[in-house]
Amino acid sequence: MLPTELSGALLNESIRYENGALWCDGVPLDALADAVGTPAYVYSAARLRANVARLQAAFAPLNATIHYSLKANANLAIVRLLAGLGLGMDAVSGGEIDRALRAGVDPARIVFAGVGKTPAELAYALDAGAGWINVESRDELRLLDRLAAERKVRPRVALRLNPGISARTHPHIATGHFGAKFGIAPEVVADILAHQSAAPHVAIEGLHVHIGSQLGRVEETIEAVREAQSLAAPYRTLRTLNIGGGFPVAYTGAERYPDPVQFAAALAPLLNGWQVKLEPGRSIIADAGLLLVSVLYVKHQGGHRFVITDGSMTELIRPALYEAVHPVIPLRAAPVAGPAIVAGPVCESADVLHRGADLPPLAPGDRLAVLVAGAYGMAMASNYNLRVKPPEVLIEDDTWRVVRRRETWDDLLRLEEDV
Ligand SMILES: Cc1ncc(COP(=O)(O)O)c(C=O)c1O
Repeated sequence: MLPTELSGALLNESIRYENGALWCDGVPLDALADAVGTPAYVYSAARLRANVARLQAAFAPLNATIHYSLKANANLAIVRLLAGLGLGMDAVSGGEIDRALRAGVDPARIVFAGVGKTPAELAYALDAGAGWINVESRDELRLLDRLAAERKVRPRVALRLNPGISARTHPHIATGHFGAKFGIAPEVVADILAHQSAAPHVAIEGLHVHIGSQLGRVEETIEAVREAQSLAAPYRTLRTLNIGGGFPVAYTGAERYPDPVQFAAALAPLLNGWQVKLEPGRSIIADAGLLLVSVLYVKHQGGHRFVITDGSMTELIRPALYEAVHPVIPLRAAPVAGPAIVAGPVCESADVLHRGADLPPLAPGDRLAVLVAGAYGMAMASNYNLRVKPPEVLIEDDTWRVVRRRETWDDLLRLEEDV
């Protein structure tokens, strides 16, 4: 069997084999790897545009405003590209607000979310004129009210509801149940709404519910929206619902997930008369990106074939953190020889990129692509083991450019004082 068949469901118009060689849009990836080295992240601008168009079309009947969730991948060039497609931004730190502003995003189109915003970050968001602040506790509301009073501004606020609903997803990315730190319990939301005069310097005009990422079904989202609507119902000025992100993407090709059209169709009957906001991240960038790695060594032990690559958990921590499965395929298609454990050089047993990847015979120097790596890949990369972060390359049709260069050992020392 060829890897082309195995991963067929995960390849797309942008990332595909041509005559046995893996391409991203108009660029052969072997030639790109020759030019920029490995490991390296590669993103397809065409696929990004297609993903945005798909979401925009799905939610057009709901007239929804889409705020890209910067946490998925906040590379400046990518944020610029997405802003150019008309997306607002969802930021969860002062750093992300700064990134959005530097990308030229209109501050009014930024929603500022997060369970632990510092006073300095809230003040920065107010001074920058962020369009919405999603508040996650009574304490935060009090602080925001005070900071707004000091500045003589009246920010628009959405209270983030924790509806007490367990989404069908990995426990680390389920956020809407009462064991999760996120959001405000329904009875507290009700109480805050009943006493809005206690926070006169903020305008509570919305509720926010994000119950998790990689949502396997629409039912829990519907339930969460209903809960939010019942809390908002008595208040005429409260007609904005931010439903968060969480639209799932296929990582193995075997998943049977609802697509954005199914989410939109299920939500539409509920949302008549509501202003709808969305905060998708993964569904925009995940399958537009891949991680290129090179084989360093191959060894057999304990009945396993270990393929040690120059890519590791420091580039892509999702397999170690979430037991995520990312398909790994060769840059040159060849018949599969059997399963392999694809692992990196980091001194951790958890440093595995894929356990049981069906791969051809491999030798040092061969190259592999780790697919569906655009979201929460580079965004969660680290310098553990003093590894430098990889470059990021953006492909536009048959041209490419490095949009973040590979770090150097000097970069690693830049902030140290005793050099
Ligand atoms: C509040 C909030 N909004 C949006 C997102 C984006 O989720 P996703 O990338 O699954 O679309 C997240 C991610 O966890 C989140 O916490």
